[in-house]
Amino acid sequence: MYTQLQLRDSARPPVNVSTLRQMKEKGEKIASLTCYDASYAALVDAAGTDVVLVGDSLGMVIQGHDTTVPDTLEHVIYHCRAVSKGLFRPFLMADMPFMTYTSREQALQNAVRLMQEGGAKMVKLEGGAGQAEIVEFLAGHDIAVCAHLGLRPQSVHKTGGFRVQGREEAAAEQMKRDAKLLQDAGADVVLLECIPTALGHEITQELHVPVIGIGAGPHTDGQILVLYDVLDITPGRKPRFVQNFQQGHDNPLAALQSYVEAVKSGAYPAAEHCF
Ligand code: KIV
Repeated sequence: MYTQLQLRDSARPPVNVSTLRQMKEKGEKIASLTCYDASYAALVDAAGTDVVLVGDSLGMVIQGHDTTVPDTLEHVIYHCRAVSKGLFRPFLMADMPFMTYTSREQALQNAVRLMQEGGAKMVKLEGGAGQAEIVEFLAGHDIAVCAHLGLRPQSVHKTGGFRVQGREEAAAEQMKRDAKLLQDAGADVVLLECIPTALGHEITQELHVPVIGIGAGPHTDGQILVLYDVLDITPGRKPRFVQNFQQGHDNPLAALQSYVEAVKSGAYPAAEHCF
């Protein structure tokens, strides 16, 4: 139904890692969203989104689990393949699920599957300094990598739940060191989840690679939200950083366009979404 050819439009060249670096240099905000299927992918693309993540949040919002821990590589590949059919312009990133990157060889094998079978252009993995060796190995094989720091949902059973990270000075210093280490190991993008605004600002200033935030304040180079939160589909209590962009719009495309505009203009996130 949605083919790459139908969506091809030379006025909107596909986003790649160089585009993201240039956006950081120019101060142009990177608007990102999660997505899980081809139909929404086409809308997310049409709305002007720059980066699309097939997140392991699919375990929660699609499959109804309490955490992302039950996600498997097969699940992410399945959804990534579907999303890749609906996208032309956005850069497609896929999550490496829990325990799929415990050794360099395992990480490489699974990243290759996400790219070859799922159509991903970048893989995202959670973790700090301990993942530098894996990031370096993947980068050494020319795989684009996003390093996810701050609140790491795959570790909630160890860290004690979905909580803001990096509030204490020692933890903030550690995160700054980890971000630099992962960049130096070859990460092309750093994603920061649920951290204080000031820390998000400092890390963004210190890194030369683009930094995308979720609940990390307004100063990161870009923002990402879970698609179903933006469209107000997710039931129950929402995290502080979520804004319902469906409000005031009578169709999902208009809601997604207003999210992209709000990120680009800096209107989102506002103070009430920050820590
Ligand atoms: O899995 C996911 O959707 C994510 C985002 C929350 C950044 O990692």
